[in-house]
Amino acid sequence: MQDTTIAARGLVLLGCGKMGSAMLAGWLDRGLPASSVWVQDPAPSLWVHGSGVHVNAELPNNPAVILIAVKPQMMGDALPDIAAFGGGDTVFISVAAGTPLSAFEEAFGAASPIVRAMPNTPAAVGRGITAICANAAGQAALDTAEMLLSAVGDVVRLDGEHQMDAVTGVSGSGPAYVFHLIETLAAGGVAQGLPEDLAMQLAKATVAGAGHLAMEADEDPGQLRVNVTSPNGTTQAALEVLMDKKSGFPSLLPRAVKAAHERSEELSRG
Ligand SMILES: NC(=O)c1ccc[n+]([C@@H]2O[C@H](COP(=O)([O-])OP(=O)(O)OC[C@H]3O[C@@H](n4cnc5c(N)ncnc54)[C@H](OP(=O)(O)O)[C@@H]3O)[C@@H](O)[C@H]2O)c1
Repeated sequence: MQDTTIAARGLVLLGCGKMGSAMLAGWLDRGLPASSVWVQDPAPSLWVHGSGVHVNAELPNNPAVILIAVKPQMMGDALPDIAAFGGGDTVFISVAAGTPLSAFEEAFGAASPIVRAMPNTPAAVGRGITAICANAAGQAALDTAEMLLSAVGDVVRLDGEHQMDAVTGVSGSGPAYVFHLIETLAAGGVAQGLPEDLAMQLAKATVAGAGHLAMEADEDPGQLRVNVTSPNGTTQAALEVLMDKKSGFPSLLPRAVKAAHERSEELSRG
């Protein structure tokens, strides 16, 4: 599907909170005409009202795409409003965590193209990563989903929905792990005598800078680590703690990812 099809037939955004607004800002920045977007939300922000999109207006007859960005617990209320668009060539894209493709097939019919996406919070600054998969009827719609979701960062395609719970454990929930890393790195600085605000500034910039370097460098993260570890130096002293097989990251992070994966499976089962 071309941008022009979306511009001509319209894009409906159901739910325009944090994630919906981040995507909408990305689309408008990339030149999607505001007049082609219909936002449905009980309390849209002032920014949405001022953006020129249709707000809580009557929907077009045959929108090209309906993107669902309501909380999973609001899904039961939200889906009946758009169920009538099922069964045609309107593409449904959901970013709701934990709501499986089967739930949307039940609402819209299995013949509807449906894409399930798992973005993450750095989407708010255009640096998210979103994993996508589709039902059988939605394989061609993956291109449309990739085009729309790339407005807020990178997009990867999964082999199938079975990978979604593990993705949730790595990139969906992952930003929170990194935020906690920042908190605890700063606390480590405070414990060694630094003022809190200085320790936090150092910790944030270190995580952001190292993340940026990991994305930009030709070397993999393991090599980047080796590059900054002089034998018997300060980094090695710290890494001996962090890389301890029993108490360090090699045990801790896989356990954290597993816990998120298992919880995601439980939530998907309802
Ligand atoms: N934020 C993230 O980083 C992230 C990451 C991965 C996945 N997601 C998924 O993205 C979805 C949205 O998350 P969010 O963080 O953007 O939540 P949010 O800020 O709460 O946004 C949801 C929006 O939907 C509105 N809404 C509620 N019921 C509705 C209905 N029946 N019809 C239309 N709109 C309705 C809400 O309005 P009210 O506030 O007035 O109820 C709110 O503005 C969730 O399913 C979440 O799992 C988010």
